[in-house]
Amino acid sequence: MVAASSPTIIMALDLGTTSTRVALYDAAGEAVTIVAREHRQYFPHPGWVEHDAHEIWSNIRELTALALARAQLTAADIATIGITNQRETVVAWDATTSRPIHRAIVWQDSRTDGVIADLVQAGHNATVQQTTGLNLSAYFSASKMAWILEHTREAADLAARGDLRFGTIDTWIIWNLTGGRVHATDITNASRTSLMNITTGQWDYELGAVFGIDPDVLEVALPAIHPSVYNYGTVAPGLAIAGVPITGVLGDQQAASFGQTIFAAGEAKNTYGTGCFLLYNTGSKPVFSTSGLLTTVAYQLPDAAPVYALEGSVAQAGSVVQWLRDQLGIIRTSAEIESLANSVDDHGGVYFVPAFSGLFAPWWRADASGTIIGLTSYATAGHIARAALDATAYQTLDVISAVETDTGHKLQQLNVDGGMTVNEQLMQFQADILDVEVHRSADVETTARGAAYAAGLGVGIWASTDELRDLWRSGGTWSPDIDPNKRRRLIAGWHRAIEHAIGWSG
Ligand code: G3P
Repeated sequence: MVAASSPTIIMALDLGTTSTRVALYDAAGEAVTIVAREHRQYFPHPGWVEHDAHEIWSNIRELTALALARAQLTAADIATIGITNQRETVVAWDATTSRPIHRAIVWQDSRTDGVIADLVQAGHNATVQQTTGLNLSAYFSASKMAWILEHTREAADLAARGDLRFGTIDTWIIWNLTGGRVHATDITNASRTSLMNITTGQWDYELGAVFGIDPDVLEVALPAIHPSVYNYGTVAPGLAIAGVPITGVLGDQQAASFGQTIFAAGEAKNTYGTGCFLLYNTGSKPVFSTSGLLTTVAYQLPDAAPVYALEGSVAQAGSVVQWLRDQLGIIRTSAEIESLANSVDDHGGVYFVPAFSGLFAPWWRADASGTIIGLTSYATAGHIARAALDATAYQTLDVISAVETDTGHKLQQLNVDGGMTVNEQLMQFQADILDVEVHRSADVETTARGAAYAAGLGVGIWASTDELRDLWRSGGTWSPDIDPNKRRRLIAGWHRAIEHAIGWSG
């Protein structure tokens, strides 16, 4: 069926760490429908985290159909598709059968910590950081690809035949949506692999050798890199969204930044999701951090140079709330954290360093472990809940201090989004600890929105990023309201807690 006039609805596919969402937006930027489904997390060994890539693909097949049915629309009403995804997670598959040869190795997976420690020891960190903008860490894709090549016979056989394909989750979904015709990624996702030259925006195949991967294998197995706004191809027949073009792709943190309309140098956003990720736009030049931040691509528009960001990646934020619910059982639903934390006046001297997979930015200590400290017989579950939320604010502070050191600029305001930002107490505490105004966007799901914005730019629904700026709506502002001495005392306590967490494991 052919639409009577050009379609204007945009579909965003948000492929997160714990769930997949499909959202529809109209040209005014209003969300029409959102459907979501969680996928299974596999923890086969301590520190290992895997996903079933096929499950994620089937969820997309079903959710795209469901979203259309809910909105009473068909593919003919959809102008374009935007994709955003958990970054760094690696899928490996057979090009001839499209079958994954191993479960996806998730960004949080630390199985390659030992290999990375050896590479650091051998003095590779400086070269890798200067080339890719990323420090050596098991977090990024390269060592996960090397692990698959080393530990699965099939990967080596496929590589020998030229049939091995690697991709982050965006690449895997583009491949499936296009019926195996397109093997591509966007520059923001590529910038998270440790294999892309951050200055040129091209793969540096020779870097494979550092991780023990034959550069010739990478040349065949890695996808083509394109700008974030680009025509990636159209969806193959047989799917609910057949025939719709895919014109926007961004890693999820970059998508959240795009959805927050962080387009100019000096602007920053923080997304409170599974982890907590701060992106500070540095403009057209990559800034190399000396303070534990990552240099990453924020976005790239067609026929334009990439726009860069400094990123502070915090591994555990919302996942700590899940841990309190599923492992400790002190809350029944994630939403209950707010009332439990509000049942006490303050943290009662308790600090919680959620270093479940070591500490990411700005510390980068794989040998840190989760620590709850300051317990007395006065402490209650409420204090632990409060300390868990406070940890997110303190970790954000540490990242922003690093941004200020690297750039020499004091942050003027922080835009926030993500599920945890509905927690008003946390927002106030964040403003208090940062001593900066915190601005929440009305739509806390800016990740899906950012993918929709990129895709909409790709088909001309919006003509420029200025038009997108006009769509930003405030969902609340919090100003600092704390005695400066108390603020200093709290921060000093947090840093003592960090010292205790470091060096405990590994
Ligand atoms: O780098 C990991 C990040 O992309 C995961 O984001 O939103 O799934 O926690 P999220």
